[in-house]
Amino acid sequence: MSSDHPAHGLVPRPRAVQPRAGHVDLPDGAVVVAHPDLRAAARWWRRTCEDAFGVAWDERGPDTSGAVAFALDADLPAGGYALDVGDGRVDVRAPDAAGAHAAAQTLRQLLGPAAFRRAGTGPVRVPCVTISDAPRCGWRGVLLDVARHFLPKDGVLRMVDLAAAHKLNVLQLHLTDDQGWRVEIRSRPRLTEVGAWRTGSQRGALRDTPADATPHGGYYTQDDLREIVAYAAARGVTVVPEIDLPGHSQAAIAAYPELGMPGTAGAVGTAWGITDGVVRPTGATVEFFTDVLDEVLEVFDAPVIHLGGDEVPTTAWRDDGELVAHAAELGLSSVDGLHSWFVARLAAHLSARGRRAAVWDEALGPDLPAAAVVMSWRGVAQGAQAIAGGWDVVMAPEQFVYLDHRAADGPDEPVPVGFVRTVDDVYGFDVSPPPVRTALDASAPGRLLGAQAALWTEHLDSGRRVDYAAFPRLAAFAEAVWSDEAQRDLADFRRRLTTHHLPRLDAAGVEYRPETGPQPWQRRPGVPGRPRDLAEEWAEGGWAGMGGWREP
Ligand code: ACM
Repeated sequence: MSSDHPAHGLVPRPRAVQPRAGHVDLPDGAVVVAHPDLRAAARWWRRTCEDAFGVAWDERGPDTSGAVAFALDADLPAGGYALDVGDGRVDVRAPDAAGAHAAAQTLRQLLGPAAFRRAGTGPVRVPCVTISDAPRCGWRGVLLDVARHFLPKDGVLRMVDLAAAHKLNVLQLHLTDDQGWRVEIRSRPRLTEVGAWRTGSQRGALRDTPADATPHGGYYTQDDLREIVAYAAARGVTVVPEIDLPGHSQAAIAAYPELGMPGTAGAVGTAWGITDGVVRPTGATVEFFTDVLDEVLEVFDAPVIHLGGDEVPTTAWRDDGELVAHAAELGLSSVDGLHSWFVARLAAHLSARGRRAAVWDEALGPDLPAAAVVMSWRGVAQGAQAIAGGWDVVMAPEQFVYLDHRAADGPDEPVPVGFVRTVDDVYGFDVSPPPVRTALDASAPGRLLGAQAALWTEHLDSGRRVDYAAFPRLAAFAEAVWSDEAQRDLADFRRRLTTHHLPRLDAAGVEYRPETGPQPWQRRPGVPGRPRDLAEEWAEGGWAGMGGWREP
């Protein structure tokens, strides 16, 4: 079968594909049947195709027969599916809803770029094929920072669609930071009345650059967020909210100065970097944020809620006599221990309500509840350490999967920050690099759940800039977390990307980074970046990296 059979163009690459000649026509009136557990995926696929091709199909329960059937098959691996197209029928079997969603995305890709349009006309012809597929990782995430730059709700919904199209199943929304609080909390209205707005933004990545004079802001109401959660669920994506504490909290402190260290009240942040906007870790602030989390839990049904815990300067805590005494009373050897104490209190609150906390790796410590999920971002060693200590881990190392980092070397990249991470580099991301593999081989008590790419938005001030940073690198990441390690083949990925996948992204209206570099309007001449050199940092920090807050 020639390599232009649509089944040879799937991204991410499935485990086993047998393309055949011929196709199955699905005209008006075709019947789609689905087991109740798989109905959401079948419905999403039916509606997507009806819009894209201008057809009208019937949806029926599983007791009738249909040209398209989504059937439950408990023998298949979790999150996987089997697809058989031939003899006038499309048969999907899946062990769970997640597998049915993955199958639905494969079916959409088989229909070509036209299936990525929101309206159109034309016959639905599914090429004959047999596919069996299953994900490498259970957690296949992407983080979207909506705090540094607010992305209006439509942009978030669109990112959900694009994540799902790449078989990613977690969207972490970084909802709060120094520069903005973006989630409505009804019992603490000033969090958004004050905390969602700033007077300007630093342009570029040079420290001490004055902010421009353009106010920026916005937030999601609880109804907006419920809509996002439901929209994502209909596509097999879980939305994990992140309330970043106790650092990165300047916006909350601007709204409620009693949360912060005396003298740090100030305004919502306008500059990037690590700030003194750190919550004072006391019983009173724990209580404030448990109230906040209770509202977050009403809106988000994710089993995991992210509490942040990254980049927490503790310097000011050391000069605060009451905090020093508080730490001593708690039996902590130093006031720094209040960082993990504070996060652990909030994590325990989540546990008591049937949810798990996720934290960035700085919050790893003896106080961290065993049920917490650790996200390894400063490097890889931290994830290995957490696995060895019994925690479940999601790998998110900045050296490999931070997609706000520059996509190429050279002066034309817009606001070039971080390490050079080309499409090929991201494709080469190893979810379980040597330190993690060693921990897993030693039968460490913790598990590797998967991995997550990140779109931090200090320098991505619009949906168009997010597109440029995310694509096509997110497609490369998707294959790294979905496809079998043994089957990864960069040349084949590049062929599929160019021939099949970029046309899908074009049809979906994604303004990805061109292979040849940024278009003139995608550049930001004169806006300084802050490139980092991976080889240099690697030589010094190795698997642990060099990021995060360091004691001055
Ligand atoms: C992080 O990048 N500070 C998690």
